[in-house]
Amino acid sequence: MADTICAIDVGTTKVCAIIAEVVGEERLEIVGYGRAASDGMTKGVVTNVAAATAAIGQAVEEAEQAADRSIGRAYVGIAGSHIQAQPSKGAVPIGRNRIVSAEDVARVKEAARAIALPHNREIIHVVPRSYAVDEQEDLQEPIGMHGFRLAVDAQVISGATGAVRNLLRCIQTHGIEVEELVLEPLASGEAVLTEAERDMGVAVVDMGGGTTDLAMFMKGSLWHTMVVDVGGQHLTHDLAVGLGAPFEAAEQLKLRFGSALASRVPPDQDVTVDVFGENGPSTVPRQLVAEILEVRAEEMIDLVLREIKRSGYDGLAPAGLVLTGGSAQLPGLRELARQMTQMPVRVGIPASLAKMPPDLRTPDNATGVGLLLWAMHNQWLSGDFSERRQRSPFMERVMRWLKNLLPG
Ligand SMILES: Nc1ncnc2c1ncn2[C@@H]1O[C@H](COP(=O)(O)OP(=O)(O)OP(=O)(O)O)[C@@H](O)[C@H]1O
Ligand SMILES: [Mg+2]
Repeated sequence: MADTICAIDVGTTKVCAIIAEVVGEERLEIVGYGRAASDGMTKGVVTNVAAATAAIGQAVEEAEQAADRSIGRAYVGIAGSHIQAQPSKGAVPIGRNRIVSAEDVARVKEAARAIALPHNREIIHVVPRSYAVDEQEDLQEPIGMHGFRLAVDAQVISGATGAVRNLLRCIQTHGIEVEELVLEPLASGEAVLTEAERDMGVAVVDMGGGTTDLAMFMKGSLWHTMVVDVGGQHLTHDLAVGLGAPFEAAEQLKLRFGSALASRVPPDQDVTVDVFGENGPSTVPRQLVAEILEVRAEEMIDLVLREIKRSGYDGLAPAGLVLTGGSAQLPGLRELARQMTQMPVRVGIPASLAKMPPDLRTPDNATGVGLLLWAMHNQWLSGDFSERRQRSPFMERVMRWLKNLLPG
């Protein structure tokens, strides 16, 4: 039987579990998926373990039934504003034969992990930006090169220990071991970016329900990443407060009639919405709805733009922005982003995989589909998977942690 990979995207508004089979070389086939409304999640992090666990269970069970198999391990997305990225360097002597091996690459990444972190934070990823073999710099693939010293320039991505452990617990309660926690914008990038965009320089902006995640790529590698605590729920909240409407009514109004560009909305159109203090629905100009949404959307894009500038990346993203996540579907958002950033902007939908149901080909599934692609690119293709299976990165982390507890 073919190898099975499972991805679980635990978002602020929905949980999505997708099961795929690896068929042939580098080809995934979707065999089942499940989706449930999130519970116990705020701004991308678990705030109620029992509720989040139940929502995850529902999505997983649905996926397992559709795929007609149960899953024991999964790749799980992680986000939240507790995530931080910091640059780090590492270097090691190249082993026997002076030819860089996969083992040397693993060792140099391990060396780059050695950064000072407060005790309440832990490392989620070490993502290489580029490698150097002796004086030859800027290498994307050092394996097979001849030399004496291998160095890496990496991004170390860390998260708050509490947020990490709570998420792990919600998954493990279902008897599912976490193969790897993957930063959500990295997963989304896998699903929606083209290789040409990554090489040229691009920023993927995943605008979800509770967070907006940013990942910038240059020369094919991750340059910088950040998660901000603003998402589609804030757009809805502003409408609810602005119009005096219940949250759910405001959400429906946003989905049906919303726009992020008030100037594009005909001035003479009215829409109805249930408001507090009235017995029946109330009439509001559609342009007012767009005006309220535009203010918040502008703020969200401005935050992203400021972070891009802060990272020293400004002007280095000729491929511009790729907007994804559920909120990227808000009409007018792409145009607003284009006007504000003066960059090329497109909306990213996940790459098509074999037997992929059309329901998954929407921006809000970028993270889920991307987790599968991440799994394939970073684990399957980087060596012997069955060996890794016996000792997952998570287990390695546990082992390292246990080792640290031992005296001397
Ligand atoms: N057509 C649409 N227009 C505007 N907003 C939309 C549309 N469709 C979905 N959304 C919004 O997208 C958000 C959900 O997106 P998504 O599923 O990507 O979030 P999530 O993964 O649950 O949350 P997060 O990643 O922030 O933790 C909701 O706020 C929803 O209102
Ligand atoms: Mg999401």
